[in-house]
Amino acid sequence: METRHLNASQTNEAAEILKNGGVVAIPTETVYGLAASAFDEEAIKKIYKAKGRPTDNPLIVHIADINSLDAVVAGLSLKAAILAKKFWPGPLTMVLPKSRFIPEIVSAGLDSVAVRFPSNETAQEIIIKAGVPLVAPSANKSGKTSPTTVQHVLLDMDGLIDAVVDGGSCTIGLESTVVSLMDGSPRLLRPGAITLEDLQNVIDEVKVDESIYRDLNSGEKAISPGMKYKHYAPSAKVIVVSGNQENYINFVNSASEKNVMALCFDEDIPYIKIPYISYGGMRNADEQARNLFDALRKTDEMSAKVVYARCPDKDGVGMAVYNRLMRAAGFEILNV
Ligand code: TXA
Ligand code: MG
Repeated sequence: METRHLNASQTNEAAEILKNGGVVAIPTETVYGLAASAFDEEAIKKIYKAKGRPTDNPLIVHIADINSLDAVVAGLSLKAAILAKKFWPGPLTMVLPKSRFIPEIVSAGLDSVAVRFPSNETAQEIIIKAGVPLVAPSANKSGKTSPTTVQHVLLDMDGLIDAVVDGGSCTIGLESTVVSLMDGSPRLLRPGAITLEDLQNVIDEVKVDESIYRDLNSGEKAISPGMKYKHYAPSAKVIVVSGNQENYINFVNSASEKNVMALCFDEDIPYIKIPYISYGGMRNADEQARNLFDALRKTDEMSAKVVYARCPDKDGVGMAVYNRLMRAAGFEILNV
């Protein structure tokens, strides 16, 4: 199949393909998504196939006007309504009771459905013109790093999907915050640009799911099925290195493995004597979020075998950066 390259003004063409049961990679403010009609099971099967995604991992439904929620969820609790009012459109996904109109294949058989209202205008236009909510998992091969540019999308998806819409680089760079509202107290399942603090400022109690900080034990049930799969992994073995700047630099400079690389901060660059790539300023979590996935992909381009990643601060957006990096490292961390 030939994948059509559309620009951001060709939303009519993108919508037309979606209406005809096609799959289109679309830009969002977080990462690129692989979109299809949320009501079209055949189209959704194509997404699972293109991604090589296990079918027990459910998809996020994307809306572009609040009224279309009625067709997606079975009801909105007060807390969910408060979060929607405060953070939509934006990088927040809520897990809510599923409406009967949403096919099983979207929710992987769960009685819940994940919903998000993206702020990216191209995404909104495509959803509105398609006339239906769109499912859109990140537009990468399952287990690989989420795409933040059209070039990333094409590396994984060229020839496997109908079209890709070029919306430039994603402004946030990490996937949306996922919060489950399936029982009384909201639970953070995936950290993102809407931070735990942001959520706690609006609703008092938010639990943090354990899978954010550690690997699941074998046989343990994941509340968010995606959390049990290896994620964001480049070909190299990634190891997170925690410690102050001096200790990190000494550690990487004395590394003797072949094809070893440092994934560091801008401030480390003058001192590093091995191949390196920076993923942003030491105190700039937004920048780290924006650059991390591209930097991880570049370690592949540079044929790295081992990547020693400088550990980010875990506050605010840093919690999401830390979470993605730890997943890329299979939770392997070294204290220096
Ligand atoms: O920012 C994003 O959310 C991007 C853009 C394209 O919108 N999409 C995205 O989708 O990251 P995906 O499929 O790569 O990640 C969705 C995550 C998975 O970890 C999945 O297990 C979880 O959300 N999820 C989806 N439906 C769920 C549900 N009903 N209950 C719990 N977790 C759910
Ligand atoms: Mg994904």
